[in-house]
Amino acid sequence: MNNIYNSLKVKDIFKSLKARFFIIVAVTGLISCLCMHLIILDSYEDRAVSVRTTEVQTQLRILANHLIFYNYLQSPSSDVINAELDMLANLYDGRVMVINDDLKVVKDTYNISQGKTIISEEVVNCLKTGSKGTVSKYDQSNGYIELLTPIIETEVIEEQDVSEYGNPNEVVRGVLLTSVSTDTIETTMEILSNRAATIEVLIALVIILFAAMVSYALLKPFDRITAAINDIKEGYTDQPIVGPNYLETDAIIRAFNALLRRMKVLDDSRQEFVSNVSHELKTPITSMKILADSLLTQEDVPNEVYKEFMTDISHEVDREDKIINDLLALVKMDKTSAGLSITSVDVVALTESVLKRMRPIAKKHNIDLTLESKRAITAEIDEVKISLVIMNLVENAIKYNKDNGSVKVELDADHQYFYMKVIDTGMGIPEDALDHIYERFYRVDKSRSREIGGTGLGLAIARNAVLMHRGSIDVKSTLGEGTTFSVKLPLFCVGVKQ
Ligand SMILES: Nc1ncnc2c1ncn2[C@@H]1O[C@H](COP(=O)(O)OP(=O)(O)O)[C@@H](O)[C@H]1O
Ligand SMILES: [Mg+2]
Repeated sequence: MNNIYNSLKVKDIFKSLKARFFIIVAVTGLISCLCMHLIILDSYEDRAVSVRTTEVQTQLRILANHLIFYNYLQSPSSDVINAELDMLANLYDGRVMVINDDLKVVKDTYNISQGKTIISEEVVNCLKTGSKGTVSKYDQSNGYIELLTPIIETEVIEEQDVSEYGNPNEVVRGVLLTSVSTDTIETTMEILSNRAATIEVLIALVIILFAAMVSYALLKPFDRITAAINDIKEGYTDQPIVGPNYLETDAIIRAFNALLRRMKVLDDSRQEFVSNVSHELKTPITSMKILADSLLTQEDVPNEVYKEFMTDISHEVDREDKIINDLLALVKMDKTSAGLSITSVDVVALTESVLKRMRPIAKKHNIDLTLESKRAITAEIDEVKISLVIMNLVENAIKYNKDNGSVKVELDADHQYFYMKVIDTGMGIPEDALDHIYERFYRVDKSRSREIGGTGLGLAIARNAVLMHRGSIDVKSTLGEGTTFSVKLPLFCVGVKQ
């Protein structure tokens, strides 16, 4: 396991689910942390600027009233007001200019613009609009707030007018143009930002640790599965994988265990096959050995006995040969259609030729062998393999028949498939054996089958050949009455065309 990880290249790290998970969690955490930082600082700034603006605005309004009270615009020499102006300017680290309604600067706390005329749209506007002209502007890049405050004198009008308008008349006498530094706000923000950065580093460490832990914990089941699969691969165990896991890994485990079961079944059946093969091949050899030995141990064996024994040995050799031939035929077939060599075949003629070969055996038992075809059938099939199917079915129908019985082969076709039925009037197959007859080496009656030269491989060969053609084979049987095998095969088979 460790070796696998050690040999990972940097490029491969990003392919790792764990690394991706870690990166996603970490980046999400860090980005939200950073956003929070920016949003909080930004709203602090807005809030601080607005508080500062209201505060200064209030002071300025009070100051404006004092200006009127001391008639400062006409005689700007009042010490009280000058002191008040300086104090305000000092307090907020800013500059206050008093401008009269002729746009002339009456007082500048910086003592620069005194006596000058200020022609600024905002000032003119403020003079015109009166109390509505209170304006503030925040210049973030230069770090100050600019405020315009009208200096308003209220004149009490005649009594009837008061009742008519309900308001004292306002006259704008001048404007206070003030700029206030926001340095303190910026300093506070810097301090806040630094502190936030420290906290952020801590949070980032926590997030990274958390992301690492989460990605490790969440993806641990996958490591466990890999380890379990490796154990099985290396042969330590063939136990199914278990473990408290997620739905997703559970699906993987279930699929893998199913695969494992299937492999085990295949392995078992292969082992059984090998042991069956050995047994089947051994039987004739044992017989031959006994026959040969008994000939060798006897002295002066009469010629007839010698001949009889040699005939038996010859039969056993034939048997061995048949088993080997059947095995070879079976081994050559797998269930895919890749191994087929397809040609256009006249199915009726093919069946006829197979039956012709079978006739002598049928005659021996006085069995009536007939072929009935409803139409001419030409199909694209593997001729050798399909003739094996017909031969095995007809051979069985004759072998497991009664004397004077009959075997009928029926052929028919539609536009897609052709159908073959092999109907016999034989002994039939017991119901519980029906599921097993296609198994290799399975015989209902072992001794009888052997007696008549069966290997138990005929139906396995026939079924494999049919499946290779993507067809189907079916059997119906009544004990003591007879058996019918039905084969359905496609007229056009997908395979290697010749
Ligand atoms: N037409 C049939 N009638 C009765 N039994 C049959 C028939 N065909 C097959 N069987 C049974 O199925 C078994 C398997 O058949 P098969 O695979 O051809 O092997 P075998 O070499 O014994 O013929 C036979 O041993 C026999 O018991
Ligand atoms: Mg057979």
